[in-house]
Amino acid sequence: MPLLSGLKPEFAMPLYKIIDHNPTTRILIWNITESFEQLNQEVQLNEKNQLRLNGMKSDMHQRAFLSVRKLLTLADYSDFDLYYDEFGKPHLHSENCHSEFTEVSITHSHHFSAIILSNEPVGIDIEMQRDKIIKIAHKFVKDGELNRLQKRNHTEYIKKLTIKWGVKEAIFKIRNEKGISFKDHINVQPFELNEQQAVANLHFNGLHRQYTIYFSELDTNFTLVYTMEPQSQTPKQ
Ligand SMILES: CC(C)(COP(=O)(O)OP(=O)(O)OC[C@H]1O[C@@H](n2cnc3c(N)ncnc32)[C@H](O)[C@@H]1OP(=O)(O)O)[C@@H](O)C(=O)NCCC(=O)NCCS
Repeated sequence: MPLLSGLKPEFAMPLYKIIDHNPTTRILIWNITESFEQLNQEVQLNEKNQLRLNGMKSDMHQRAFLSVRKLLTLADYSDFDLYYDEFGKPHLHSENCHSEFTEVSITHSHHFSAIILSNEPVGIDIEMQRDKIIKIAHKFVKDGELNRLQKRNHTEYIKKLTIKWGVKEAIFKIRNEKGISFKDHINVQPFELNEQQAVANLHFNGLHRQYTIYFSELDTNFTLVYTMEPQSQTPKQ
């Protein structure tokens, strides 16, 4: 669907990108340039989310939260089509009969926010590439893998660590299960940056799933990662 061509002028600028990944999966990314006041004027929230917004301490968090609603509007949804489960995972109300999609995932990082809409369970993450990821790398990457990665140059090392983190967040967002350890249960197979995709395995509670992961750069130092739940379960290993 040629969404971009149908954009109202006020959407054109902060809408950073739309990726039609396949006929049933769409990613929309917002570059947050508006003030809180502007966004707040343009977005209508349901009662629960209004309370959440009011309780947010940071202006950037509030703007990100509101910008996600701008993205929903672009895809013909509104905040009233969304609800959160007890863990904080967002869902679309199934009774929305105009709905093209059944699943949603949300991310925001600094001046970017994004949603992914699909008919498969989906997870999305945007991360800023930062040196400080090195300090926590041992918490989410196994030692052997970390040793291999450290042999790469500094920039590649940071970018790959950021992708790995994003992969684990995205899979976690799909599964939404207590007890998943990023380090012990999710493994990302070796990949090259120019491949823009990778394979990750989740081994958790007797379940084995293999995910194809898609990654790319936003501006120069933000990483976008998304994935979908595989349609059929691969055999246990
Ligand atoms: C919940 C979590 C996935 C959010 O990720 P994040 O990078 O901090 O923040 P993001 O901006 O990318 O994502 C936030 C969005 O995730 C969604 N989200 C929150 N909890 C979720 C859950 N349990 N499942 C799926 N999605 C969730 C929400 O939509 C939220 O945005 P919103 O509330 O404004 O709508 C993350 O904080 C988390 O708990 N991770 C697992 C903990 C863990 O194991 N950490 C690793 C230790 S090494």
